[in-house]
Amino acid sequence: MSVPVPIVIDCDPGHDDALAILLAAGDPAVDLLAVTTVAGNQTLDKTTLNALRVCTVAGLTEVPVAAGCASPLVEPLRVAEDVHGVSGLDGPRFPAPAVVARPEHAVDLLARILAGHPEPVTLVPTAPLTNIALLLTRHPEVAGRIGEIVLMGGSTERGNTTPAAEFNIHTDPEAADIVFRSGVPLTMCGLNVTHQALATPEVVARFEALGTEPGRICAELLGFFAGTYRRLWGFPAPPVHDPVAVARVLDPGLVTCVDAHVAVELHGRHTRGATVVDLHGTLGRPPNARVAVALRTDAFWDRMVAAVAALGGGPGRGAPATGDGTGP
Ligand code: BDR
Ligand code: CA
Repeated sequence: MSVPVPIVIDCDPGHDDALAILLAAGDPAVDLLAVTTVAGNQTLDKTTLNALRVCTVAGLTEVPVAAGCASPLVEPLRVAEDVHGVSGLDGPRFPAPAVVARPEHAVDLLARILAGHPEPVTLVPTAPLTNIALLLTRHPEVAGRIGEIVLMGGSTERGNTTPAAEFNIHTDPEAADIVFRSGVPLTMCGLNVTHQALATPEVVARFEALGTEPGRICAELLGFFAGTYRRLWGFPAPPVHDPVAVARVLDPGLVTCVDAHVAVELHGRHTRGATVVDLHGTLGRPPNARVAVALRTDAFWDRMVAAVAALGGGPGRGAPATGDGTGP
């Protein structure tokens, strides 16, 4: 078996971020070095608390968690409460967090990990790119230590926050522009491919059938998410965006990519935050990204369910949901 790929997930949990963390925690092909948080789906205090809750469910007691930027680089934060609820992770009842956040800014933790790890580290942002842009501008000396950035964001087609723009890129277009122009090897897993990862009732039943706490949490997260996607967009089942980026790292064969130039629209009157993907090279610009175009859906779900199964854990239904995870 090959050596696990060292990764850091930079996230804003978020239902699908939670599944991304659980996938990375349970799959032996990646070594999760840290979880960093940013404002996005909810405010930073909530996304950080949610990351601590998910790490607790995953048994990730030794993996550092650090909070990063509380707002985008330029515009004020607009959270996705209509999608992820008041807590950012509405639906399941979580046990009290057994881990606390490090007293260190996420960007400093990222820089320290990149500088100190013997191998290049892959960054997996599943949220607005504020932390990653700040890392690249404040710590350019560690850019060469990034193996790759494999992000969930953007789309080759339409958006979900505006007709043109996807949420993560739309929330902080200036940060995304810095990242896409950085020259760091980059893979973009956008809505065009994450919409192929639909959590059908059959998928949810597989999580329930595990009979474990992580399995229950996944099923309940997906139950809430199903309601959101039915109500807001008329989807028959909810797409889980963020685990697709993790899946691309743990088995590149799961997600087919093509090389293309991607620009982030910063000024469009109707299109701010859109990713302009030159799939056919019509502009003659050199590619700056690998762009995901297809997902092996059945194999993806097999891998996702296997990872959650590998976490084990009892049924855990009786745990009191107390504590805010912000102190010892
Ligand atoms: C992205 O936006 C968030 O709501 C999800 O967590 C995902 O990262 C999808 O557009
Ligand atoms: Ca997310």
